[in-house]
Parts: sequence; structure tokens; C-alpha cells
Amino acid sequence: MELFIDTADIQQIREVNDMGIIDGVTTNPTLVAKSGRKFKDVLLEICDLVSGPVSAEVVSTDCDGMMKEAVEYAGLRPNVIVKIPLTPEGIKATNQCTKQDIKTNVTLCFSPTQALLAAKAGATYVSPFVGRIDDHSGDGMEVVADIVSIYERYGYKTKVLAASIRHPLHVLEALRLGAHVATCPYKVLMQLAHHPLTDIGLAKFLEDWKSVSP
Ligand code: E4P
Repeated sequence: MELFIDTADIQQIREVNDMGIIDGVTTNPTLVAKSGRKFKDVLLEICDLVSGPVSAEVVSTDCDGMMKEAVEYAGLRPNVIVKIPLTPEGIKATNQCTKQDIKTNVTLCFSPTQALLAAKAGATYVSPFVGRIDDHSGDGMEVVADIVSIYERYGYKTKVLAASIRHPLHVLEALRLGAHVATCPYKVLMQLAHHPLTDIGLAKFLEDWKSVSP
């Protein structure tokens, strides 16, 4: 399974990139707003830092507007993936992107039947929002499981990108279910890198070493 980082914070991206653990980056308008920087500046910096796919989200709500943004973003760098919301207009735009060989990440997916439409329109990725489904008493991972098995059964090529990941157990479940990608906030990636028993074990080793070291 590929791991993406879900952020527009360059420092965070640099840090996990140096660890060699990320395969790509997802951003959204909220994350870019948090960075306090101009969207295109951030996008170009991320694309030059990371060789894997970088999702850049359109903010138009009609197909023509989305396509204008999609063509512009896709022309900026070869690793840009155009992120498009899962609305009827968004599906239309996804279909047009597919015909123009523009890679897409269809976002804000909350059900397996929405994911079916994304696949039929030729989306490169579909992003079920696991945490937000859980927030509303749904089972986000069940939605991921359904999408994975439906795509497998019918041979759809769209990759399942588990998004809105809130904690390490979401990552574990995504792995077990065969999701192609999980996009995680920096905090979750750091949680994956830490275990209290590792810290306790290391402290003990270093303490014991003091008795034999000169
Ligand atoms: C995915 O691409 C989204 O940017 C993201 O995962 C949304 O996560 P949130 O529900 O924590 O905002």
C-alpha cells in the first residue's frame, strides 16, 4: 500500500520525505489555507520536492470551470493529480479529464455507489473519507472494504485512496482491506513511527551500556 501525506505544510512534507516513507501528497483547499500561502506557489514547491503524485483540488463547482483549473494544474508539473469533488458536475469533469489523459483524484466520496460512478468516469483515484464517515456514526472502513471488493469484482482500474485518516488503526485497516493508498496527516505518520516500548527498550539499552562503556 502506498502512503501519502495529507498536508500543504512544506516542513512536514520535507521531514517525511527525508524518511523515505511517502509516495505522494494530497492537499485540499482547507490545508492550503492553513499554510497561509498562495496555492500555486505551494503546489509547485511540493511537486518539486516529491516525485510521486501530488493532488491539487479544483474549487469551481461547474464542469467548465473545473476543466479550466484541471488543464492549468495538469500543465504545471507532470506529477499533478487533479482533485475533483464527487458531484454530477465533478463526474462530468472527471470523464473529460480521462479523455484528455489528465489524472484525477475524485474526492469527497462517502459511499460505494458514488465510487462506482468515479470508476466509470475513469478516475485515477477515488477518495473515501473514512474519518468523516465515522464522525457521523457510519463505518468508514466498511465503505473502503465495499469499494475495494466491488472494484476487484468488476475489474475497475481506479485506485482506492483511503482519506480522512485519523489514527494508526485506520492505516492498519486500510492495509488489511487492500486499499491502494492511505493519505495520512503528519501526526498519524509520526504515531506510526513511535511505540512506547521502543522508547523504553532504547532507554534501558543505553542505560545498561553505560556500565560497560569506558
Ligand atoms: C483527502 O484528500 C482530504 O484532504 C483529507 O483526507 C480530509 O481529511 P479530514 O476529514 O481530516 O479533513
